Amino acid sequence: MKILAIDTSCDETAAAITENTRILSNVIWSQASAHAKFGGVMPSLAQRMHEERIDWVIEQAIKRSKLKIQNLDYLAVTIGPGLSIALGVGIDRARKLAEKYGKPLIAVNHLEGHLLSPLANSDILNLKFPNLGLVISGGNTIFIKMNQLGSYEILAQTTDDALGEALDKAARMLGLGYPGGAILEKLARLGNPKKFSLPIPLIGQENRQIFSYSGLKTSFYRLIEANKLKDLHFPSKHDVYDLAATFQNVAFTHLIRIISYILKNDDTTYRDFFVGGGVSANIEIRKRLRNLAKENGLQTHFPYTQRLCGDNAAMIGIAGYFYVTTGNLTKNPKEIDRDPNLKLS
Ligand code: KG4
Repeated sequence: MKILAIDTSCDETAAAITENTRILSNVIWSQASAHAKFGGVMPSLAQRMHEERIDWVIEQAIKRSKLKIQNLDYLAVTIGPGLSIALGVGIDRARKLAEKYGKPLIAVNHLEGHLLSPLANSDILNLKFPNLGLVISGGNTIFIKMNQLGSYEILAQTTDDALGEALDKAARMLGLGYPGGAILEKLARLGNPKKFSLPIPLIGQENRQIFSYSGLKTSFYRLIEANKLKDLHFPSKHDVYDLAATFQNVAFTHLIRIISYILKNDDTTYRDFFVGGGVSANIEIRKRLRNLAKENGLQTHFPYTQRLCGDNAAMIGIAGYFYVTTGNLTKNPKEIDRDPNLKLS
């Protein structure tokens, strides 16, 4: 099943050609550097840049796959969650192409794309349920039970900032640029995570089954300011390494503690644990999640390249493939519309 997939949910203009779970091309035009000076994504700028790039990105994806659009079976497009005006650009193009070439169009939930991204180029063509999924990105931190494709139970999600967003904000406080998660990871490797002390969020409240990062962010800000008062030269290069290591360690410890609590109190038998989203590129979190999974008899699956962790369209093509093979909808292009707050339900 050959699919042309499109994703314009945030600040990456992305198109891909997939064949079942195989990736034939995966083109991503990142706008991150244009948004960097604002310290976050500017929706109107994102829309304009998607408009400028989308046709080129689609053309490249088709060209690199060595196929012709006429030979494809479906089109797939992200309809949400995401920035409304950004989503609109991808949906509009997908609709026009689907109508022009008479192809059915599949409306894909971006979060399902992240959840299924570990299946890219894998031999797993039939999913076994129930299994577990975790999306850790700049916009989402959500741990779910997957009963079937399209049937999910939320086991925990963030009540405020997403994990990636928290890492980005911590990086910004250290003057490290945007998005800062990957930079923070590099510096954290050079630092001592015990040099400074930060409270782990929600200790003793694990049964609430939520993640929360806003308190941690405030404590981090206070920690930096208090040290600046004591020492005019704070933070030194080494302080920055230690601060990065401390923040990352506490943020990850919180995530692992909540998931671990939930697994201890859940007697369902799961085998597979799928992890996706930008933060899943982080080596330290992969190590901790693998250990946790091992303790619970689970097999972890991560996207096989860094490129597949962040926003991309190949994961949308793969989700589209599973939608169709499990008898889940293909849609008339005219019926498809954006849903910026689309949930996993
Ligand atoms: O999935 P994604 O590209 O976009 C969203 O849908 O949000 O995730 C972006 C997030 C950013 O917060 C970025 O800082 C974080 O993923 N990220 C990382 C790493 N690479 C990207 N966080 C920690 N370690 C990394 N290596």
